[in-house]
Amino acid sequence: MKATARAHTNIALIKYWGKRDEQLFLPMNNSISITLDQFYTTTSVTFQDDLASDVFVLDGVELGGAEQNKISTFLDLVRRMTKHHGHAVVESSNNVPTAAGFASSASGFAALAAASTKALGYEISDAGLSTLARQGSGSACRSIYGGFVEWHMGEKIDGTDSFATQLLSEEDWQLSIISVMVEAKQKKVLSREGMKRTVATSPFYDGWLASLEPDLLATRAAIADRTFEQLGTVLERNAMKMHATMLGANPPFMYWMSSTIEVMQAVQELREDGIQAYFTIDAGPNVKVICQPADEKAVMDRLKQLMCVKDLFLCHPGPGIHYLTT
Ligand code: DP6
Repeated sequence: MKATARAHTNIALIKYWGKRDEQLFLPMNNSISITLDQFYTTTSVTFQDDLASDVFVLDGVELGGAEQNKISTFLDLVRRMTKHHGHAVVESSNNVPTAAGFASSASGFAALAAASTKALGYEISDAGLSTLARQGSGSACRSIYGGFVEWHMGEKIDGTDSFATQLLSEEDWQLSIISVMVEAKQKKVLSREGMKRTVATSPFYDGWLASLEPDLLATRAAIADRTFEQLGTVLERNAMKMHATMLGANPPFMYWMSSTIEVMQAVQELREDGIQAYFTIDAGPNVKVICQPADEKAVMDRLKQLMCVKDLFLCHPGPGIHYLTT
């Protein structure tokens, strides 16, 4: 009745920004990501018959309220699926800097989906696990797999065809992903709220959706052929477009700080100097810079010179879900 699983975070190259069904976490578009080797969540789930409710311990601290509720609501899905009625102790530890834009919800719900089904001895495919993890946090469905991953939005109203698959394994293309931390404070508009407001009010949202197909096609082709310049060009453009939709929301909002723009400009300058580096940004002020391993040192050295940079974390493509013996 106990199992431990580890899932790594992922960074989207083509972004998920907006839901067509809030309850089921069904996205408006396909998205493509890279799973990262350095940031992960390890979760143990133990089902116990004597518990009156689920217990959630994160990094050694027992959490109640909204945090515990999220876990319990997710375990309700697992209980319904497996027809098991007991409660569980969930112990998680995050190897993710708890800073703006470093999505621990993706690794968190992927690890919880894997550990809870395994603890109950429930046989489930990767697609099934991805479908389950999606209902904790959308981006979690991509963290089931290593390397390069696509989340297929699906068409069905019940969401059974909305899950991720692997495009290319982590061993098949070595890239460097540098997480550039400029600010550690919690973001003001959470991604869930931000994407909802954008879909409901931004006149630019239709333009975002209409422009996605060429980005997806170019990204899939760049991954299949390992053409870095094409990948970088599309991922940077896609991030810029996602952030542009928020500027048109009502009320408008933005995640960038002046330091975010400084990093973006430094990356553009690196390219002017002949170094292929590209940036992407999620729902926070921090930047992820993507380059090829041969340029990793030059890019890191340039970023270190910026006064606004508080920390740099170097990642490479990482693995999918795995189970640990405890
Ligand atoms: C900007 O997966 O955190 O990082 O499904 O509401 O939990 P919920 O949202 P979440 O959103 C991620 C948004 C993003 C882009 C991405 O990862 O694709």
